[in-house]
Amino acid sequence: MEARERARRSAQQGAADPALRVALLGAGVVGSQVARLLTSQRDDLAARAGAALELVGVAVRDVSVPRDGVDPALLTTDAEGLVERADLVVEVMGGIEPARSLLLRAIAAGASVVTANKALLAEDGPTLYAAADDAGVDLYFEAAVAGAIPLVRPVRESLAGDRIRRVLGVVNGTTNYVLDQMATEGLDLDQAVKQAQALGYAEADPTADVEGFDAAAKAAILASLAFHTRVPLEQVHREGITAVTADDVAWAARTGHVVKLLAIAESTDAGVSVRVHPALVPTSHPLAGVHGAFNAVFVEAEAAGELMFYGRGAGGAPTASAVLGDLVSAARHRVLGGRGPVESSYADLPLLPASAALTRYQVRLDVADRPGVLAQVAHALAEHEVSIEAVRQAPTASGGAASRAVAPASGTDPLALAHLVITTHEATDAALAATVAALAELDSVTRVVSVLRVEGA
Ligand code: NDP
Ligand code: HSE
Repeated sequence: MEARERARRSAQQGAADPALRVALLGAGVVGSQVARLLTSQRDDLAARAGAALELVGVAVRDVSVPRDGVDPALLTTDAEGLVERADLVVEVMGGIEPARSLLLRAIAAGASVVTANKALLAEDGPTLYAAADDAGVDLYFEAAVAGAIPLVRPVRESLAGDRIRRVLGVVNGTTNYVLDQMATEGLDLDQAVKQAQALGYAEADPTADVEGFDAAAKAAILASLAFHTRVPLEQVHREGITAVTADDVAWAARTGHVVKLLAIAESTDAGVSVRVHPALVPTSHPLAGVHGAFNAVFVEAEAAGELMFYGRGAGGAPTASAVLGDLVSAARHRVLGGRGPVESSYADLPLLPASAALTRYQVRLDVADRPGVLAQVAHALAEHEVSIEAVRQAPTASGGAASRAVAPASGTDPLALAHLVITTHEATDAALAATVAALAELDSVTRVVSVLRVEGA
């Protein structure tokens, strides 16, 4: 009997009998919580979906490992066989393969699929969309971006009548925790990463988070949805947080900022730019108040104005909540007909390199503390058409005069050093890079200490 017919009958019987067969691929942090909630919320889910959701199998690598909340009899290593006998497939195993092949197999067999796999979607989303379209089934992925936070659905559906201009946010909880600990506890990066690992936020190998790969995948997905344009992962400019020092974080505080790893997707008349990098955010900006492993995303749309989405971007139960929301939607379609949204890439806007993006910058330099140095530095910026918004001079770590906003008087110690903190007006990456190269060449500049973008002002 066809799944929809079985489900309809089941719904008519008050969803008393199992009707829709659910296959779960993965029983780790997220999968075990999906399994638990499928059991503990069984009746509510059946009422909302219009049919009972029966977990028919859970694919894992090692069936001998006990899984909290998962009936051992359901565990299998035969993922291929499992997806062939399901109406709905939930993929929470992660990685590219075998997740992609299994999802394609499930779709070809007529199952609707739900995935939390941002890496796969960012790498090969169009293949999955096309397969789901051909088969007339649903592809849902709310949990792939910002965990529990309803964000994919609002961008894809609620704002379908508006024009999104910008998406700006903290989409990686691990790096937000690390930067927050550096700011609030004075830890250095290594200490904060170790703490994130001890708490289970960061993996043993934290590369995906600290190098910005996870955030870049989420940015690619969000930008594709927001701008109705395919944004391949390799078009996302990516910088992680590994170069952020305790000194950067301390200076951020001294200048009224916090350091955040931001994902920024913008649409201008010239096209779409998508970037992930650490940035200084003013302490007055709502994103500065996003602490710990939380996520928050601003969406700016022409008619709606600014919207902010905030919540838990990771964790087993929060992510499972988003997965189950998708599962109920897909189940409803099996019961009542209809389909969820398909890929929308009609706008096909040009993709711009990050070097074209306009941003303000904060540049910190160690310079000789003698007459004329500030003029030389200002000249280097002017030559590259980078306009200075503010300059602050402070003693270097080795000591010196009190912080002041003007050049030192003549006659000061010729060996003395000063620390310059220059904030620029908006400039392109390319202009700023050329400026920094020119600054580094000046005899009076002993070191370009750091260059950070300033966002959200
Ligand atoms: P885990 O590593 O905790 O769990 C992965 C599960 O998949 C394990 O049960 C593992 O089996 C199983 N698995 C992996 N490879 C295979 C394979 N080849 N065949 C069969 N089973 C396999 O991952 P998470 O639960 O943390 O993440 C799952 C997905 O959810 C990822 O795509 C992740 O990006 C996404 N996600 C995770 C969030 C989180 O907070 N953890 C938040 C948002 C999204 P075994 O246990 O036997 O090794
Ligand atoms: N590792 C991610 C984070 C969660 O720290 O936000 C999964 O996307």
